[in-house]
Amino acid sequence: MLKPPRLSRSPSKSAMTALYARYNSDTAVSQYCDAHYGLDKFGVENFSRKITRISAAALEGKPQNSALNLGCAVGRTSFELATHFEQVTGIDFSSRFINIAKRIQKRGKICYQLPEEGVLISDHEISLADLNLAETADKVTFLQGDVCRLEPRFCDYDLVLAANLIDRLPEPGKFLANIHQRLVIGGLLVITSPYNWLEHYTPRKRWLGGRFRAGTPLTSLEGLSKKLSRHFTMIGEPLELEYVIRETARTFQHCISQVTIWHRIH
Ligand SMILES: C[S@@+](CC[C@H](N)C(=O)[O-])C[C@H]1O[C@@H](n2cnc3c(N)ncnc32)[C@H](O)[C@@H]1O
Repeated sequence: MLKPPRLSRSPSKSAMTALYARYNSDTAVSQYCDAHYGLDKFGVENFSRKITRISAAALEGKPQNSALNLGCAVGRTSFELATHFEQVTGIDFSSRFINIAKRIQKRGKICYQLPEEGVLISDHEISLADLNLAETADKVTFLQGDVCRLEPRFCDYDLVLAANLIDRLPEPGKFLANIHQRLVIGGLLVITSPYNWLEHYTPRKRWLGGRFRAGTPLTSLEGLSKKLSRHFTMIGEPLELEYVIRETARTFQHCISQVTIWHRIH
């Protein structure tokens, strides 16, 4: 069983590295390369493509100069966002993920392996050109870093996307309390999450929801709304967005993230 590393109020870089060891593993590299760049499965559209379309549609009529993609993993969503935005910054704590994203950006392609069954693996190659994304590479900047400790220069974005990130943070409430600083007034914050809270990543008392507060059930949407209400209003209703993560040739995770879109009002 995974034991959570001991965390002080502000986790040190080494505690963070231990916390996110999974995102530097061979298994995670395979799964995320396939989820981002592999073929669609079971008729479920690629998550990066779909969340980009939803975000761009929500921004219609507003400036689409710059986007900040927090927890960008191996990069596909940042390239997709660059089909709409002039500049995209993708940040992830996993140095392995960021190195893969940078390699694809530089070489225009990447090779990766997938587990088939037992010790058998298969080799795969994808190129940005195959995905109609070759023209986007120059518009994206990938950086390794902790999204909870971003420098002030990461500000004035028209869109901030935090896809499947908040339930992996030690202090999601603190992250949300400061996130408005990254956006222009009128900009949009798009959050997606399966609200898969785990004590390995987030102590239970800091879960935004999925727990009881004073004996009453608290949903993650309620917790999220409370944390964001000072600077944002929610646009429309939450959406449910599917994605599939391949484990082996015959084992898959079928996940659903709730998508909420927030308009920065002050
Ligand atoms: C569940 S994955 C989602 C990846 C990607 N957004 C997607 O939807 O495919 C969570 C990602 O967030 C990254 N992450 C988690 N905590 C982070 C932090 N504090 N700073 C930067 N990245 C972080 C992980 O390395 C991982 O790539």
